[in-house]
Amino acid sequence: MKPEALGSNVAQAKAPRGRFIALEGGEGAGKSTQAGLLAEALRARGLDVVLTREPGGTPGAEAVRALLLNTDGEGWGARAEALLFAAARADHVERLIRPALAAGHWVICDRFVDSSRAYQGGGGGLSDDDIIALHRIGSEGILPDVTVLIEVSPPVAEARLARRDVDGADRIGGRERAYHARVASAFARFAEDEPSRFARISGDGTPLLIHAQILAALGHMLPDFSPVSGA
Ligand code: TYD
Repeated sequence: MKPEALGSNVAQAKAPRGRFIALEGGEGAGKSTQAGLLAEALRARGLDVVLTREPGGTPGAEAVRALLLNTDGEGWGARAEALLFAAARADHVERLIRPALAAGHWVICDRFVDSSRAYQGGGGGLSDDDIIALHRIGSEGILPDVTVLIEVSPPVAEARLARRDVDGADRIGGRERAYHARVASAFARFAEDEPSRFARISGDGTPLLIHAQILAALGHMLPDFSPVSGA
């Protein structure tokens, strides 16, 4: 399936007032730190920001998150796992993301559907078509206006994970190195296939340097940077 068949871009939908920005990347990419810094920067520009994450973001989706990531029990097969991520996303989109966008808020989401394509598809071996079909059924194919892909070189990611996971990794984070290598190359492929949907950022620098790169990449959509907003 062609990537453009994935769904409709929020910016192309009927007169949305809010904007939808997703941050994506493999383990140890620093997305959560960057999502927080971006939310602060947008709030400082006077925007109403909803900062959220996947899996999770609503009570129902957070309950599914616990089912997915807890290391108790035998875990899920690749298909059940993909369905659970899609179900969590459906709840999150319906109850939080769409209403927030309709109310004019800027939604910053730590991971979205490209994580399912990269992890359950690239990593877990499901086809991209199947993941996209689940997203259509669950969330009517909604896509972020921009997806910021933070890419880190493997040694940097490993050093960060060693610090993050001192008490043990979650079920997916703890998968073997080859799985995470497939995830990283899937993300890179998506960004190459759809350069207009992705902003690719190197995550090897300091948090503030990465933050500055993200702001520069989003500059065209931010009110303070827009050539028309000051007019
Ligand atoms: P989280 O603790 O949020 O990890 P990170 O800080 O790396 O974002 O856990 C989310 C985990 O779930 C992470 O390993 C990626 C995985 N994941 C999927 O496999 N598919 C998905 O669709 C999403 C949203 C996350």
